[in-house]
Amino acid sequence: MNILKLNSSLYSEAGQSSQLATQFVEALRDRAPAAQVVERDLAREPVPHLDAARFQAFLAKPEERTAEQRAIAAYSDALIGELRDADVVVLGLPMYNFGVPSQLKAYFDHVARAGVTFRYTEKGPVGLLAGKKAYVFATRGGAYAGTARDTQSAYVRDFLAFLGIADVEFVYAESLAMGPAPREAALAQARAAIQNLAPPARLAA
Ligand SMILES: Cc1cc2nc3c(=O)[nH]c(=O)nc-3n(C[C@H](O)[C@H](O)[C@H](O)COP(=O)(O)O)c2cc1C
Repeated sequence: MNILKLNSSLYSEAGQSSQLATQFVEALRDRAPAAQVVERDLAREPVPHLDAARFQAFLAKPEERTAEQRAIAAYSDALIGELRDADVVVLGLPMYNFGVPSQLKAYFDHVARAGVTFRYTEKGPVGLLAGKKAYVFATRGGAYAGTARDTQSAYVRDFLAFLGIADVEFVYAESLAMGPAPREAALAQARAAIQNLAPPARLAA
C-alpha cells in the first residue's frame, strides 16, 4: 500500500492539520507496517503558481515542447506520478481566509491536467485517478463544518472527485482559535475520530 501525505499548513509538520494527518498515517502503518509513505510538504517545497507559460507548457504537444516547457511538464508529471502511485491520499488542510492554502491551490493547478488526470467526454468530465481513498484533516480557527459558509470542504471534495478520487473522508478540528477549552476539546475529538476511522478497504478486508 502506498500512502501519499500532503501537508499544506504554513507551519509544515508543526501545523495542527499536519499533526492530525501524521497521527492517521501512523495508525495506518501500525496496521500495515509495509506501507510506503511519501510525504510532500507544500510549504517547505512550494509548487509555483500557475501562469500562462506553465499552462502553455501543459497544453503543448510533447514533441513540440521547448526545453523550458519540457522541464515544466516533467515537474507536473512527477507530482501526478506521486498521486497516481498512491492508494491512499492523506491531506492536512488548514482553512486560510475561508479557502484552501494557496500552496495547495498551486499543487491542484499542477495535477489537474487534461488528458492526463481527467478528460472530457460527451457525458462530461471523467477523472483518470480512480481507485483511491482520500482522508482530509481539516483544521479551522472558527467553526463552519456543515454550514453554507464551509465552501472549502465542497471545493476539495469536488476537485478530488474531478480527478476520480470520489471516496473522501473528512475529519474536522474546529474552533481552534476560540480559547483553550474549545481548542483542546476539538483536538481531542479529532484524535478520537482518527482512532475510529475506517481504514481503506484493502486493509479492512
Ligand atoms: C493566514 C491565516 C488565515 C486564517 N483564516 C481562517 C479562516 O478563514 N477561518 C478559520 O476558521 N480559521 C482561519 N485561520 C485559523 C486556522 O485555520 C487554524 O489556526 C488552523 O488550525 C491552522 O491549521 P494549521 O496549524 O495546520 O496551519 C487562519 C489562520 C491563518 C494563519
